Amino acid sequence: MKQLGIPLAGLAALLIVLPLNGQPTQAVIRIDTNRVISEVHPYVFGNFAEHLGRCIYGGIFEEGSPLADPEGFRKDVMAAVKPLGVSVLRWPGGNFASGYHWMDGIGPRDLRPARPDHAWGALETNRFGTDEFLRYCERIGAEPYICINAGLGTVDEARQWVEYCNETRPTYWANQRRKNGREKPWNVKIWGLGNEIDGPWQLGHKNAEDYAKFALEAAKAMRRQDGTISLIASGSSNFRPDADWIGWNRTVLERLKDEIDYISLHTYIGNRNNNFEEYLGANAQDIEERIRIVKGQIQAVQSTQRVRRPIYIAFDEWNVWYRTLQGSTEYEIAQTGLEERYNFEDALAMAIFFNAFFRNADVVKMANLAQLVNVIAPIFTNKQGLFLQTTYFPLIEYGKQRGNLSLDVQAVSPTYRIGNRPPIGYLDVSATYSPKDRAVYVNVLNRSEKQDIATRIENLVGRLGSEAEVWEMNHSDLKAVNDFGAERVRPATRKAALTLANNGFTYTFPRHSLTILRLSVQ
Ligand code: AHR
Repeated sequence: MKQLGIPLAGLAALLIVLPLNGQPTQAVIRIDTNRVISEVHPYVFGNFAEHLGRCIYGGIFEEGSPLADPEGFRKDVMAAVKPLGVSVLRWPGGNFASGYHWMDGIGPRDLRPARPDHAWGALETNRFGTDEFLRYCERIGAEPYICINAGLGTVDEARQWVEYCNETRPTYWANQRRKNGREKPWNVKIWGLGNEIDGPWQLGHKNAEDYAKFALEAAKAMRRQDGTISLIASGSSNFRPDADWIGWNRTVLERLKDEIDYISLHTYIGNRNNNFEEYLGANAQDIEERIRIVKGQIQAVQSTQRVRRPIYIAFDEWNVWYRTLQGSTEYEIAQTGLEERYNFEDALAMAIFFNAFFRNADVVKMANLAQLVNVIAPIFTNKQGLFLQTTYFPLIEYGKQRGNLSLDVQAVSPTYRIGNRPPIGYLDVSATYSPKDRAVYVNVLNRSEKQDIATRIENLVGRLGSEAEVWEMNHSDLKAVNDFGAERVRPATRKAALTLANNGFTYTFPRHSLTILRLSVQ
């Protein structure tokens, strides 16, 4: 998308250029359904469940709870998860993965060993393991994505995990799976070659060369076990000024380019300076920039592949996380359980991620919100029930656009500057098209705290229908939060009659709001 910024000085000229129906407009969005970037891959609506705090135990899984079913899964949580349409679920971590030995988590639950979890300083009972996870995926209709232990684990342990899950012949590990109640293979297609191995906080942290050697051998052994699996390399997620994240990716991509299908990227953001426009502007710029840099790196190594094969970005951890990211060690951080309470502005932050994923739909082919329940999550439980956090609602609405074609939409809006960064438009826009439904979705975040922005929306191909379906998230209090029995922040929906002129119309996007317009095009 061309997100063209116009300096405030240029705004006066624009006001003269774009008056429509007597109403001055300050911005323009041009939709052309011929300008397709790529399909919005359904895996962009993935999620992540780690053995951390109350995500698994007390979230997804709570044996003995009156709210749990006979398999131990919380029924209320499952009912809240289903509307999210989680396409792919990543497990068991995260940092946890780098110290996890999967063989501890199979067989009769009472015989499984309890182990110290040195990623987060917890006690792992192993009552939830591979079979429970894969069963949960079946129940919610998600594709499982297992991240191997590339920290303290071994290549053969990873290969045997694939054998346990996918082998059809009567081998040792396939027979163990059968003994544990699962005759047919789980057929796990997506495997991660470790988590954040570039981070010094990671158990078994390695330099890029050592990681690449391990990952290459793991990939070879895992693929010999099952040649149909997809593999995700651990890209860098260490954006600290002293870390060479670009160098890490370069080495990993060069060494693994003939083996991998994706390279991962992680980003957590926060409103640390309590500055709304900076929060939604600077982070949007960073996300876009990181995607573009990794895309360029992928293109560079692809030109030297033995046989051309695509490599995509799996943005397999993303979210708002800063309130509970205090402390100098992971053990300290874990004290909070990472139980972030999201407010209204955090719900708007979901848009800067999705808009960036959509605008880069040709390369971002998977994304996993971190995480599903309680731990930096859209669903929050206690023993008696749950409530939906503010961030829950945009996830559902954006999720309706899976499989649509992302459009190279042109958006021009008044700009502002954050420090010495380049100017950024107040409107953050993406658009998708469903040829089947002949519907265009226009996703517009107005990140101005003070200004409503009247916008001319023009459609270049096909005739616009005279009505729009409007989904809007807005609240007078940027800091408003939801709670048990008090879901104050929720979206509003309505139908809007459009006054069409020259196959376009004017729509005013309210200050600090997220609007998704569904337009019909004939
Ligand atoms: O999602 C929480 C943690 O954030 C994950 O365990 C780790 O991969 C990342 O640093």
